[in-house]
Amino acid sequence: PAALKVALLGGGTVGSQAARILTEDAEALRDRVGAPLELTGIAVRSRGAERDWRADPALYTTDAEALVDGADIVIELMGGIEPARTLIRRALAAGTSVITGNKALLAQHGEELFALASETGAQLSFEAAVAGAIPILRPLRDSLSGDTVTRVMGIANGTTNFILDRMDTEGADFADALAEAQRLGYAEADPTADVGGLDAAAKAAILATLSFGAPYTLDDVAVEGITAITAEDNAAAADAGYVIKLLAIAERATAEDGTSGAVLRVHPTLLPREHPLASVRGAYNAVFVEAENAGQLMFYGPGAGGAPTASAVMGDVVSIAQRIVRGGPARLRTPVAHLPALDAAEASTSC
Ligand code: NDP
Ligand code: HSE
Repeated sequence: PAALKVALLGGGTVGSQAARILTEDAEALRDRVGAPLELTGIAVRSRGAERDWRADPALYTTDAEALVDGADIVIELMGGIEPARTLIRRALAAGTSVITGNKALLAQHGEELFALASETGAQLSFEAAVAGAIPILRPLRDSLSGDTVTRVMGIANGTTNFILDRMDTEGADFADALAEAQRLGYAEADPTADVGGLDAAAKAAILATLSFGAPYTLDDVAVEGITAITAEDNAAAADAGYVIKLLAIAERATAEDGTSGAVLRVHPTLLPREHPLASVRGAYNAVFVEAENAGQLMFYGPGAGGAPTASAVMGDVVSIAQRIVRGGPARLRTPVAHLPALDAAEASTSC
């Protein structure tokens, strides 16, 4: 079958890792999809900038529109509202499916983008937008669609968890810990979105939208970040047997007049040291989901960073590519001939 043309908008922390996977794992991806995925270009601001992983120099371009127009699949990893919003609209309007990790955009303009996608039959996938590598959105949208989710709560921002963890365990200075989180690729281009709680708030809006089936936006979330937290606060919490974590919470609630609705909030919270969320270290995330029939579920894993987030992006890419190639629902990964079953008594494994 003909190759599917994949346009990548953004070649920064996550984009460069998506480009690496598309390049280095091209053969395995072709086997899974049933057709080659051809990376046709990477839209950036500066073609000569330093990158975590460098693709063929000829792939870098500043003409994002031309790249979108020639694509079968668009991956948006630029971040910010514009030009990401206009480029995604351009792709969707042409019936081209889009994968994005842009929670800020989805939490402000998601409804408009999903409406456009459904008009043209394009798909808009965004597993990477919440909690990095953790598969949380598909379970909420698909696996739990026969249940009633009552609450979603957890650590949804890696940068702030990294900072609070460093302050708690090493007595690190806030600014030093933030600089380290930026160096490691966890923080947003403008890290005030992380430390001010807005990134977690965007994720709370997305989680609530999928959990409760109504379109929530950033404006629906009450937000308090971690900028006011001091080393003294951490020490006092530790002395009392607590740890401070930034939690994002979305739960069903009833107003005084009996109206049913949802409450969405993000704020620092004192957790007892033995609480499962207290042991979430570094830039890891953990999300608890409570549903009427399933009970309590917990999702845990790397919540930020280039390769973990690119993993979630590529899951969406493969799923969309499979649908394009075969039509109908995505299929299970095809068994591959070069990975045969071995004799357990004779083979050595990594664990
Ligand atoms: P970066 O800032 O590292 O990368 C952004 C990329 O987009 C850069 O290559 C930049 O070009 C390019 N870009 C930005 N604006 C433009 C523009 N106007 N025209 C052309 N190119 C542009 O961001 P990340 O990779 O960290 O994040 C990308 C997206 O993924 C964001 O929406 C973010 O919220 C989301 N995300 C990030 C995670 C993370 O851990 N980092 C985790 C989950 C989601 P240049 O390189 O030339 O500057
Ligand atoms: N800046 C975000 C974080 C990236 O620290 O969680 C992952 O969404």
